[in-house]
Formats: sequence, structure tokens, C-alpha cells
Amino acid sequence: MIQLNRRQFLASSAALTLAPPVWAQGMQTLEARPAMAQVAPSEYPQTEIWGYDGMNPGPLIRVPQGARIQRRLLNSLPQPTAVHWHGLRLNNAMDGVPGLTQDAVAPGADFAYDFTAPDAGTYWYHSHNKSTEQVARGLYGALVVDEPDAPEVDHDIVVIVDDWRLTAKAELVQDFDSPHDWTHAGRLGNFIHGRLAPDITEVKQNQRLRLRFINAATDRVILMGFSGLSGKVVALDGMPLETPAPIEAFVMAPAQRVDFIVDVMREPGEKVVIAFQDGDKAYVLAEMAITGKAGSAPRRKIAALPANPITRLSNVSSAQIAELKMEGGAMGGLRQAVYQGEMLDTGALVDKGMIWAFNGVVGMTDTPLADIGRGETLRIPIINDTAFSHAMHIHGNHFQEVKPDGTFGPLRDTILVPAGETREIAFIGENPGKWLFHCHMLSHQAAGMKTWVNVRA
Ligand code: C2O
Ligand code: CU
Repeated sequence: MIQLNRRQFLASSAALTLAPPVWAQGMQTLEARPAMAQVAPSEYPQTEIWGYDGMNPGPLIRVPQGARIQRRLLNSLPQPTAVHWHGLRLNNAMDGVPGLTQDAVAPGADFAYDFTAPDAGTYWYHSHNKSTEQVARGLYGALVVDEPDAPEVDHDIVVIVDDWRLTAKAELVQDFDSPHDWTHAGRLGNFIHGRLAPDITEVKQNQRLRLRFINAATDRVILMGFSGLSGKVVALDGMPLETPAPIEAFVMAPAQRVDFIVDVMREPGEKVVIAFQDGDKAYVLAEMAITGKAGSAPRRKIAALPANPITRLSNVSSAQIAELKMEGGAMGGLRQAVYQGEMLDTGALVDKGMIWAFNGVVGMTDTPLADIGRGETLRIPIINDTAFSHAMHIHGNHFQEVKPDGTFGPLRDTILVPAGETREIAFIGENPGKWLFHCHMLSHQAAGMKTWVNVRA
């Protein structure tokens, strides 16, 4: 007989008794719940995960640009949770950040998310409460917003790449707050896989594919590659490139997305291979058999995707500047920092599991890193004075890198800042609200790497 404590008992009975009336209100639900799923290859047993609608990845949410997205989150987990719609420039109240934009949704409770998707592109949704644990357990899914004039392709495929830490019996290793992981490169897994939606296993020579890669790993920077295909990068983090770029070996930091349009170049009987590279080894994530020929030649010409309604930077000379200095972690020089209003030394911080600081402060503060008016430009030089790379993500906005030569990089929502280096980003405050700005290596975020930016209405 398993003893349930009162909260678990309430959570499970509430899930059973509340469900029908909630459904009856007409809004589609998204239920976060424990489930069994085939995470490891089929010769291994299933893994106990937490998934949206009991699936990993969660259901693919796909809408036309400008459409309204409504989902009633029902929490059937034993922990509070919330959903963040990563990369969408949405209404701040729907951003899913407990403590900043909403309260966490208690076990058995629900929350109605209701917003519009202004930009076309590849996005994703994931838990934003105890995310280093909840995302590692499987709480994420893809969100695709279609252009009204989407380029014509034969297959449009989402590829979600993830990094699991599993035992030899394919059980999830439940060490989500290991101090070693948190102070180093985060919680890295031992099993990386890519899932294709739809799960296309056969293509034809000369067919055109749109591949939408999403790195859903909590902490791992993933180097991808593929063969048998030729084409261009057409979008990063959802936002179209003004000019499609040649494909080089591509690196995806946690949460980053890369969209490609590619043509199948190899002969029938050969294969298309999507691989993950680790040092000089390559691991196959997916293969597609080439089963025939479509047309006599590939299309080759790849046009830019239609632009989204966001203003790109033109001049940053009169912008407000808010520097962000990263410190801490293993091999770092953080001697003391402010945590919850108190100055603590490293030992006391480590005891609390807090070891990373922005500008000498660990974790969230009452005042934002910066406060800008609508239409105002904010520049953030990010100085990584640590021994690890960090993937900085801002909610509700896309930024551009300000290169040392004064030019601007493509629009993104997450940027990898290598150890010891500096990157400057800037954006125009077009979306009012309290926007979280944090490291998307979720172990680092949990251990202090988060702040926020206010855009006034
Ligand atoms: Cu992908 Cu703060 O989120
Ligand atoms: Cu980090």
C-alpha cells in the first residue's frame, strides 16, 4: 500500500474529478502529467516521464500567423508548474514565469493561457517552474506558426533534439540539483536523441524539405550536421534571415532553433542522415531512405521567408546601456554576492545552491536590470567572466547582436556567450511587460543566473 500525503492525494483526486467541467468550457486543454514513454531505442524499456498530454515531446501546436492560441493548462503533476511559450512576443501576462508574470499553478489546479502569435516561425513551449527538473523530465513541445505564404516544400519537419540522463534500464536519473552540475556546464545527459514530427522515414531525390531544429536540452550545446542535403539556413530562433545563409556545421545552444530549406541531393537507394557531433565522433539522430526521384533536378533557388512585424535595429548610438557581468561557477572568482538582499560569501552561497551572479547579484531582484520606454533601444554588453559558456535568453522580445564593427547580427532570442568572451546585444522595446532575462542552461538559471528587464507600456 503506497502512502499518499495529503497534497498528492488531493492532486490525484482533483485530476479525476475536475477534468470534465474544465473540458466543457471549450478551451483545449494541455495536461501536464506523469506518463510512460519510449525515450530510449525500442530495445530498452519505456521511461517514466512528465509530459504535456502524457507525451514527449508534447503535442505539436501549429497555428497560422496572427492566430489566437488558447490552452487551459491542467496540472496533474505532484509539483506546481507553468508553461512558457518560448520566443513568442506575446502578452506579458501569458508568459508563464512564476513570480514575475503569474503564480505557479498548484497540483490539481489549472490556468488559461490565451494570446496571439504575431510572428511566423519555429518556437517551442516548456515548463518554467523548477525547469531544470521539469524540462529534464520531458515537459516541452514544439510550436509552429505558419507564414501566410509559406514556401513550397514537400515535407515540413520539426526535429526536436534532447539530451537525457538515463540508467542502463532507461530510467531517468533523478539528480536534478547536483551541485557539481550546477557549478559546471549543467546537467548533461548520456543519451541524445532527435525526434521528427512528422516522422518521415522516406524521401525522394530532388524533394525539398523544411527542417525546423529545436534544442530542448536543459544544458547541452549541440553541434549538428547532416548529409545528403543541400540548401540554406532560412531562420534563427523563429525569425527569418534577411538573406538565407549557407549551411555550416551548426551549433545550437539550449533553446535555440534553426530552420533550413534543403533539397535531397543523393541518389535513390542512398540515405539522408541527420547527426549529432561530439568531438570527432558523429551519432546518427535520424535517417531517411531515398526511395525514388521527384523531378529531374533539385529546385536550388531558396528565397528569404517573409519578414515578421518586428523592427530591426538601425542605430544604437543613443540607446540606454545596461551591462551584464557574469561571474561565479567552478573555477570562477566569485568571492561574495548579494542573494535575497544579503551579502553572502561563496561558502554560504554554495550551501544554498546559488553560485552564479549577474553584476554581483544572485537570482531575481525587485528592480530590473534595465527599465526602458516603449520604442526605446536597450543595449546589453554581456561580459562572461566565468569558465563556462552561457546561453542568454530574453523573454517576449528578439534582439540582435551588436558586432564589434558596429554591424548587427540576425534577430534571435537566445545567444551563446562563450567562456571569457563578451557579446553585446540590443533590442527595441516594442512589447511592454516584465521580461525575464536568464541563462537557458537551466541548471545555471536555477543557481542564480536570472534577472529581468522592464519595458514600460
Ligand atoms: Cu525557454 Cu525562460 O525560457
Ligand atoms: Cu549559463
